[in-house]
Amino acid sequence: MKNIVVLVSGGGTNLQALIDAQESGMIKGGKITCVISSKSGVYALERAKKHGISSKVIARKEYADVTAYSKAILDALLAEKADLVVYAGFMTILDEQVVNAFPYKMMNVHPALIPSFCGKGYYGLRVHEEALKKGVKLTGATVHFVTEVCDGGPIILQKAVEVQNGDTPEVLQKRVMEQAEWKILPQAVSLFCEDKLEVKDGIVTVKN
Ligand code: GAR
Repeated sequence: MKNIVVLVSGGGTNLQALIDAQESGMIKGGKITCVISSKSGVYALERAKKHGISSKVIARKEYADVTAYSKAILDALLAEKADLVVYAGFMTILDEQVVNAFPYKMMNVHPALIPSFCGKGYYGLRVHEEALKKGVKLTGATVHFVTEVCDGGPIILQKAVEVQNGDTPEVLQKRVMEQAEWKILPQAVSLFCEDKLEVKDGIVTVKN
């Protein structure tokens, strides 16, 4: 059984999608063993508690810089014996000491079709604001492995979502979550836990 550690910073709807998938038996070969939040008081922590999942807060604001914060997260992940680390609305950048310790064992859900609307500064609602400003007719979500390049790691799964007339960033965000993020994140986690993901030359293949 693989130990899945989920990193969060906010409401935790993607965490909820993972919990629901776990409880419905979709995630074979893995179990969410811990939720770590970069902020105290966020609703994601309540979701973990309600489902009997242990959680801890490692608050970004209590650390002087990315290096010190990354070390604290790394220590926690090692203590938890994490086999898979999932960024589920985790809004903090970690440095290469963490990424190098978990090569192709960390995944992130991003609310756009990478390589569009991604990289430093593109997170949360901002991504949808930029998509609407550009007038794209299709957007979506991506789950990718985390590397030292922000939003630049190998793409695991993507799902497209239509933009509709009159969309606000909030409306679009909700549609992208419902139609894409909450589906492909549990799928990607499930594939990983069943050892069905292969990475070669930066390209992910899903094995049959
Ligand atoms: C989600 O839309 C997620 O894709 C996004 O933040 C939201 C968190 O929601 N993540 C990023 O933008 C990371 N670059 P949640 O806390 O309800 O899961």
